Amino acid sequence: MTNRTYKVVQWATGHVGKTAIRHFAGNPAFELVGTLVTNPAKVGRDAGEIAGIAPLGVIATDDPEAILALEADCVHFAPALPDLDMVSRLLRSGKNVVSPLGPFYRYGKYKDELDGLDAAAKAGGVSFHGSGIHPGFAGDLLPLTVLRIADRVDHIHLYEIIDHLANPSNYIEFMGFGRTPDDVLANPGRSPEAPQMFAQSMQLVLEALGLAVEDVTARLELATATQDIPYPNGVIRQGTVAGQHYEWTGWAGGKPCITYHCFWVMGQEHVSPHWDTGPSGYRIRIEGDPPMELSLTSMREVDGEKRYGGLPWTAMAGVNVIPAVCEAAPGVVTHREIGVPRMHGLIR
Ligand SMILES: NC(=O)c1ccc[n+]([C@@H]2O[C@H](COP(=O)([O-])OP(=O)(O)OC[C@H]3O[C@@H](n4cnc5c(N)ncnc54)[C@H](OP(=O)(O)O)[C@@H]3O)[C@@H](O)[C@H]2O)c1
Repeated sequence: MTNRTYKVVQWATGHVGKTAIRHFAGNPAFELVGTLVTNPAKVGRDAGEIAGIAPLGVIATDDPEAILALEADCVHFAPALPDLDMVSRLLRSGKNVVSPLGPFYRYGKYKDELDGLDAAAKAGGVSFHGSGIHPGFAGDLLPLTVLRIADRVDHIHLYEIIDHLANPSNYIEFMGFGRTPDDVLANPGRSPEAPQMFAQSMQLVLEALGLAVEDVTARLELATATQDIPYPNGVIRQGTVAGQHYEWTGWAGGKPCITYHCFWVMGQEHVSPHWDTGPSGYRIRIEGDPPMELSLTSMREVDGEKRYGGLPWTAMAGVNVIPAVCEAAPGVVTHREIGVPRMHGLIR
């Protein structure tokens, strides 16, 4: 790999997109050449200003055709909703694409989606990679890393812990916090498709162990508020849902092999039952020999605030592999093809 500069486009400027823009501005390995926004109030504004930094001389557009016509090495595609047709067009226009919306790995219906993107990428002579913290890192790359030093593996557990009271969150209402337990059980915040989506990561791990996901089973456990819990946009009323534990288990060889536990809570103090999850972040626990545990949390920052690292981690999981994706052979590239990549400009 050379020390060339990669011309990049940021598609959408939400939490993830803004982190990526700030990184592109500070890392000489990248040159931001375009930014797509959907919010009319952002059209015509400088991408740096949108991201809360000094102007970068890149004016945000809401016109996809203008982005398609640009000369760029890679698009970091991070809108709110998936658009596989647009990703295909970007690939066919000769731009590599890295996206935290996935698809991530060949499993179930995502195999067809990846096959479609593979054809588009090959037609454009470029590559596609589905990136992110989870799916994309915590449930796949982290366990794979730990398994490298295992003697025997009985069961792999991943815990995602997010305290939405202690961290800024877009997802409180969307996930159904504040609704009655019966209502959430009848119509959970996470779509019925969610276990299948996360099974892409399970498939990556199990394939590395010579197996494949045969089935995914799901369980949902709720906790309620023991008193009213105020949060920036409203109040979670006493008795309504203030904690959700989704559990998805991937089976292989007729046994449960890998379980993703997702604990989303509105604080720890006034929620019953109280789940002793530890701090927000990700924890890998390997049952086997030797039994192992690995914890990933973001530390308190200089200003004293403790932020959930999930969104910056999501942005950097994609941004840091842009050079490797640009240098890869055309087609879909997963962690299996990327391996341990060279990352550019992290020490600067
Ligand atoms: N794999 C992972 O681990 C992982 C983790 C976190 C997030 N994600 C995904 O990454 C994406 C970005 O996350 P985020 O936290 O940055 O989201 P966000 O803060 O909600 O921002 C998403 C941006 O998408 C644009 N947008 C809004 N409505 C839209 C619509 N109807 N159609 C298309 N675009 C729309 C807006 O861009 P402008 O403001 O520029 O107009 C918005 O700021 C999401 O799809 C999220 O699900 C993945």
